[in-house]
Parts: sequence; structure tokens; C-alpha cells
Amino acid sequence: MYEDRIRRPALMNKLMSAEQATLLFKDGMTVGMSGFTRAGDAKALPAALVERARSTPLHLTLLTGASLGNDSDGLMANAGVVARRMPFQADAALRRKINSGEVMFIDQHLSETAEQLRSGDLKAVDIAVIEAVAITADGGIIPTMSVGNTANFVQQAAKVIVEINLSAPLALEGFHDIYVPGARPHREAIPLLTPLQRIGTAAIAVPPERIAAIVITDSPDSPSNALPPDDETDAIARHVITFLEGEVRAGRMDASLRPLQAGIGTIANAVLHGLIDSPFHNMTMYSEVLQDSAIELLDSGQLKMASASSITLSATMHEKFIRNIERYRERIVLRPQEISNHPEIVRRLGIIALNTALEFDIYGNVNSTHVGGTHMMNGIGGSGDFARNGQLSIFVSKSVAKDGAISSVVPFAAHVDHTEHDVDVLVSEWGLADLRGLAPRERAPLIIEHCAHPDYRPQLLAYFEAAKLGGGQTPHVLEQALSWHARYQREGSMLVK
Ligand code: COA
Repeated sequence: MYEDRIRRPALMNKLMSAEQATLLFKDGMTVGMSGFTRAGDAKALPAALVERARSTPLHLTLLTGASLGNDSDGLMANAGVVARRMPFQADAALRRKINSGEVMFIDQHLSETAEQLRSGDLKAVDIAVIEAVAITADGGIIPTMSVGNTANFVQQAAKVIVEINLSAPLALEGFHDIYVPGARPHREAIPLLTPLQRIGTAAIAVPPERIAAIVITDSPDSPSNALPPDDETDAIARHVITFLEGEVRAGRMDASLRPLQAGIGTIANAVLHGLIDSPFHNMTMYSEVLQDSAIELLDSGQLKMASASSITLSATMHEKFIRNIERYRERIVLRPQEISNHPEIVRRLGIIALNTALEFDIYGNVNSTHVGGTHMMNGIGGSGDFARNGQLSIFVSKSVAKDGAISSVVPFAAHVDHTEHDVDVLVSEWGLADLRGLAPRERAPLIIEHCAHPDYRPQLLAYFEAAKLGGGQTPHVLEQALSWHARYQREGSMLVK
């Protein structure tokens, strides 16, 4: 039984239930779990830890790759199991606990967690909980639909719990490329020169004696919750395509563009989907997540290959992916997130980074994380890794949120994740502002005219004119800079009636 999944017979005696495995945990421990944007997360241990916390105090520091599926983040937060959380989440219940101050959330660039663990800047991981397709004869762990920080957790953890997921097909073996950089300061250069290149191993090496438990599950990944494209995301996609066509005409790139990165969520997925109607071909992706749109582009033939740290699909697309898995294995590589998001590689490959903003200001500073400047949405994720280092950093957003009560273009971003120095192009359904080579005073009229909703343009122009009276490289009227956010809180709309 399970010989094809546990190929080292001596490990069979580590098989146990998730409930038994929870006895390895102690209050205050640091736990590293697999899982990245709802893909490849451990399924059984989170639920079992919630049960155990009913009778035993259990407050953990929880590190993952990125967000977990199966409502695990919310269930663990509500049970008090998660005291500290990093580096990313996207769960409504956990978000509430973070914003009420009950859970301490450390919002990190996704390439950085592994570096901080390796340098000892963060407390070492005590236990790693890793979802796997199989354990090889020499003890290597074959991950499932994501790699995330799993290899780093396994390297550090005194104890490793492996969740073998029977719903993850054995055919996933061969998708992964596990490469872990050495310690600083004498690390060798990462030898990756093209997106599809494999530079590591197919499995995560672990000394078998550190595998403390093996748990069997068969729950599938949660499907992606990205919404389908709509008129506005179609318009955003058209602006991006027209812009990229201009880049090709200007001779800055050929029709294969540069390797693409596309952020999480509905808008980035829809924009990438729009590339199906574009003249570009032989494209590549060097991204952190592959959503439905990436598979559609692989199927259409426009995308030659894709590299990422996870694959997060809708239920229908997941079913199709599994059915045709052999076709994708040669064209998809899954890597640790410190490699998929590595600043050195992103800069060298000349990535086109496409991420979503909650809001941006008239000078091009972008807020991706804090609603109203105070309340955490999801986290910065990998957007900063790519935006700062890519050849082109594009941010997209619908021009308004909440039925027009919120303008996504504001005088002053209430929180800044990506500064004006990291932002090349801004896009809304109304148009695109190419900010390259422009000073703040040149950027503002362009952003207002091309990206703001027409209802908000006069208000934004009036602010800019008043600000200029005070002078400055980046003119502002400080008392009014956040007045739009305050008006929304007070009156339920940013629009002056
Ligand atoms: N103020 C308040 N709320 C806003 C807002 C603003 N300026 N702009 C958007 N929102 C709300 C929307 O109304 C929507 O709310 P709902 O869920 O209640 O309907 C929600 O934010 C999501 O917005 P949506 O327009 O559907 O965009 P999305 O699904 O593409 O997500 C981000 C947008 C910014 C939240 C998401 O891309 C994100 O978390 N980004 C940061 C991480 C990242 O970029 N990673 C990239 C590397 S993978």
C-alpha cells in the first residue's frame, strides 16, 4: 500500500493520522507550511491543529509560501492557532484578525522570506508541513502544485511532516526544479539564463531521519477565485496590448516580447487572457503564479513556456490541466519562490511585470495592500520583486471601486508599496499613462487625463493646480493630500457633491 508514493520502505513506519502528528507541535513554535496562492497547501494538518487547539493552548508563528486554500488560514486564525503570520495571505477571516490587531502579520516581498530564514534574521522553522506527490527512494520530497518556500523550510526544520496527497497525480513528478542558493556573502551566481532552464533537482532533498510523520490525504486544492474578464478588464487588456505593440514597432523588443510576469487576482488574469487576441507569439512567462490565462495561452500556442512557483486554476481548468498533464510537463517549470521572484534574475531577463494596484496617486506611487491606507487587503506578494527589477513595470487598476464611491486615482496614495521610481506605466479602463522619462509635474496631467474616471478628473486637476502654487518637485497641499480618503470615511464617497 502506497509503495508508489512512499518509495523508501523504511519510512512506512512514519505513517500516522493527522491527529497523531499534531502531538509534535508545542505552543510558541515556528511552523513552515507548503502552499502558495491556494496551490499545494497542506490540507490535513491545519484542520487537525484547529481541533487540537480546542483542548491545548497552541499559538504558532506560521510561515508559508503565500496564501493557503481550503479556508485553512481563516480556520486557524479563528481558532487562535495563528499568532504571527508571514509572508502573504488572502483570506477574509484572517484579514479580519490582522486588522483587529489579534494576529501580527509581516507583509514581505515573497523573494525575501527564504533569505531572512537563511541569514538567521527570522527565528528558525521548528516543523515543516509539506504536501507531496511522493517521497523518493533516497528520501526526496516531490511537491504538488506549488514549490513556494518549501525547500527552505525543509532545510531548516528539525522535524518534517509530509502530507502525501493521493489526489495529486504522480505525473506531477518532473515539473519541479529545486535550486536553493548558498549562504551570503560568497554565494555563486544563480546559473539561470533562460526562463525554461532547469538548474536544480526534481525533488527536495531531506535526510530521511528528519521525516517525523507521513499523513495521507486526498483533498484537492481549492479552485482559484479569480472572476472572469469583464468590459473594463477587456479595455485594460486592449490598452496594454496597444502599448506593447508600440514597444515592438519602436524596436525595443520583438513580437515574443520579454518574459511576462502577471500578478494574482481577477484583473491581472483577465489582462493576460486578453493577449489571446494579440499578435504576439513565442512568448514566455517568468512569473510566480500561473492562472487560467497562462494555460489558455499555452494552449493557443502563443506562449512557448512558463516558469512559476505555483499553478492556481479554476475547477474546470484544473480538470483540463490534469487530463493533458503530459503535454504541459515539458513547457512548465515550478521553482522555489526565491528563484521565481529573484531580483537578480528578474533584472537580467528583462521581465515585463504586470501587477494590480488598489490605488495610485497622480505622481505614480502605487498602493497594492492597504485599503484606505490602514487596513490590510492581502499583502505585497511578489509585486515588489518584479516591479522594482523588471524592464517594464506596469500597474493596472479599474478607475473606480465600490460603484464609483472610491477613485483609484487619488492625490496622495494613503500607503505606498511601489514608489514612483518603480512604476513605468499605469493603466485603467480609460487609457494608459507611459511615465518613462517624465518628471512628477509631467506625470500628473497624463495620469489624470488617461487613467482617472471622468467624474473625478476635474477634482484631481483642481488639486494639482492648487498644489503647484506651493511649488516643489512633487507639489502637494499637505492638509488636503489625504482628504479624499477622509471624505470617503465621512460621507461614503470620494466625489465632491
Ligand atoms: N479602495 C478600497 N477597495 C478597493 C480599491 C480601493 N482603492 N480598489 C479595489 N478595491 C476592492 C474591490 O472593490 C474588490 O473588493 P471586493 O472583493 O469586496 O469586491 C477588491 O478590492 C479586489 O479588487 P478587484 O478590482 O477585484 O481586483 P483583483 O482581484 O485583481 O485584486 C488586488 C486586486 C490589488 C487586491 C490584488 O491584485 C493584490 O492583492 N495585489 C497585491 C499582491 C500582488 O500584486 N501580487 C503580485 C504578484 S503575484
